[in-house]
This record gives sequence, structure tokens and C-alpha cells, in this order.
Amino acid sequence: MWINDILEKKGKILALSPMADMTDSAFCQVVRQIGGADVVFREMVSSEAIIRHNEKTLGMTDFVPAERPIVQQIFGADPQTMAQAAAIVMEHASPEGIDINMGCPVYKITSNFNGAALMKDPDLACRIIREMKAAIGNTPLSVKIRLGWDDPDTFSSFIPKIEQAGAQLITIHGRTKKQGYSGVSDIMRIAQAKAIATVPLLANGDIHDPRQVQEALDVTNADGVLIARGALGNPWFFQQYISGEYIISLEERVRIIKQHLQLHMAQYGERGLVTFRKHLSWYLKTNKVGLDIPGIKELRGKIVRADSLEQTHAILDELVEMGDQSKIFDFAPKSLSQTN
Ligand SMILES: Cc1cc2nc3c(=O)[nH]c(=O)nc-3n(C[C@H](O)[C@H](O)[C@H](O)COP(=O)(O)O)c2cc1C
Repeated sequence: MWINDILEKKGKILALSPMADMTDSAFCQVVRQIGGADVVFREMVSSEAIIRHNEKTLGMTDFVPAERPIVQQIFGADPQTMAQAAAIVMEHASPEGIDINMGCPVYKITSNFNGAALMKDPDLACRIIREMKAAIGNTPLSVKIRLGWDDPDTFSSFIPKIEQAGAQLITIHGRTKKQGYSGVSDIMRIAQAKAIATVPLLANGDIHDPRQVQEALDVTNADGVLIARGALGNPWFFQQYISGEYIISLEERVRIIKQHLQLHMAQYGERGLVTFRKHLSWYLKTNKVGLDIPGIKELRGKIVRADSLEQTHAILDELVEMGDQSKIFDFAPKSLSQTN
């Protein structure tokens, strides 16, 4: 089972967090190839769509062997539907783990009582866990939660209940649903959650720089971290933490962007050139590039208008040339505790 395997071998789990429209097969392949991440959580899929055998949704759970171990996240609110969906995903893709989304704050999700809304109804959350666990047998079942819906202390009663129901690993994002993405992720409450949990617990939220990982682990005593926005435009995040080397040359950045684009287009076809723009904007943010490059703003504008692969490559090559006139843009990351 992936959880114990990693904990026994490495002591801590470094994981890529699930992100809708972002942690697809192409991005996970890039993260895996660079190395450092122990496991990747694939973007959430709808249990309702899975049980209707929606081809596009089932296709979202496809992966290539190099991505393993992977955890597929599922969202939904009906225990039977969630259990059936988990069984279908297991049969279709056989991931190492299944994760339940009990943290998503987006209205489209919570209005159907999915995602973070489940934290308002622990009995329903537990029924979902029990049914899903029965459907997937030995495959580890994990749950991703927030601190609570509007009360930041809900986790303290919620965690023992979901453990009792069968959750084998818990990730906690240190914000309430009400906060959305505002304020800061409360690292001290994550530490409290770790003290309560009897299953492995992963810390999540605002660990945006690899230099913050150690502090997150030290302060929370968590069994690992789940990294989301920190890895967007920076698939080197995990490797940077492990090696202590934070500088990525422009040549290497452009090499990986081109490779990611190729994998993305292999997954989505020609329209991939357009859907890749969301990744380009992350890759080319000044704080991700780590260089203050004169003219990068214009280049960003130009690259999102490029309408062929050749043009995109040519603009990326221009970026490498522009690097010569740039200054290092380095900022010390904030302490996670000080932001609380
Ligand atoms: C673009 C985007 C998509 C996300 N999609 C999901 C998702 O599918 N499932 C989930 O549990 N969380 C999702 N999240 C939340 C992240 O996994 C993570 O919990 C949150 O961003 C806080 O971590 P961070 O500060 O490292 O970004 C998403 C976040 C972003 C930015």
C-alpha cells in the first residue's frame, strides 16, 4: 500500500495536490520525470459522470505507468454513487489509491452538497467512506478536508469520525470553506489536526516555495505535504526541496515547457495549444522564473496569442536569449508561522 511504502522508505510523503484542469496526465508525467514527488493526486472527477460511463470523465482517469503511484480523487455526495464510481475507476485505471474530495469550496460543487459541504454532515461523510471502502477492498482510501465549513475547529470532531469510518490518510488544508482562498492557511491548526489524527496526515495550504516545506513539516509534525499552486509553473518544486538547489536555468525551464506542451497536445490534440495557456502563464510568472527579465510582459502577451507550435517554440527560444539581460529575482519566502 502506497502510504506505508513511502513512509517506511522516506519517512515523509511529498505529494502533488489534486488540481482541476491542471494535474492531468501530461502535468503528472512532467512532475514524475523531474522527480522528487512520491505520489501524485490526479484532478477530481465526478462520481455521477463516472457511473454514467461518461467517456470524457473516465478518460480523465487514464494514466501512463510512469505516473505511478497515483491517487485518483472523486467527488460526490451519494454514498452508493461514490462507491460505484470508485469501483469503476479501480477497474478502469487501477490507481494506487482513491481520495475523496471533502474540501472543494467552489459553489458549483458545494451547492450539490459535494466537496467541503460534506464537512457539515459528518454522518453522510462517514456513510460515503464506508460504502467506498467496501467497494475498493484493499486499496487505500484517503480524504481531503478543510478546517471546517465556517468554524475553523470542526476538524477536531470530524477527523476521529472519518477515521472510524475507514479513512486511511487525511490531507488538511488549513482554511475553512468560508475563507475560500483568502487569509492564510492556519499551520497551527494543522499541527492540532496531526496531534488528533491516528492515521497519517498531510499538511496542505500556502506551501508555495520549496524552502517552506521543512518548516511546514517541523511545525505540524505532519507525515508529509501536499503541494498545489507551488508546483504550477514549477514542476521542479519537489526536486528543489530534496536537493536544496533552487535555481532553474532558462534553458531548462524552456526545455520542460516544450516537453510539457508536447505531452499536453498528445493528450488533447490541436486544441491543446490553447488549453496549455493556463500553464504558460504560471511558467512565465516572474516569481516562478526567478529572474527579472526586461520585456517578459510583452513576451507573455505574445505567447498566449501564438497560434502554432512553431511560433510558440520560437517565442520560448526568444525567452532564453532575453535571459542575458536579466537580474536575479530572489525573494526570501515568508515563514508559514509568521503569516498566522
Ligand atoms: C486550479 C486549482 C484547482 C484545484 N482543484 C482541486 C481539486 O480538484 N481537488 C481538490 O481537492 N482540491 C483542489 N484544489 C485545491 C488544492 O489542491 C489545494 O488544496 C489548495 O490550492 C491549497 O494548497 P496550495 O496553497 O498549495 O495551493 C485546487 C486548487 C487550484 C489552485
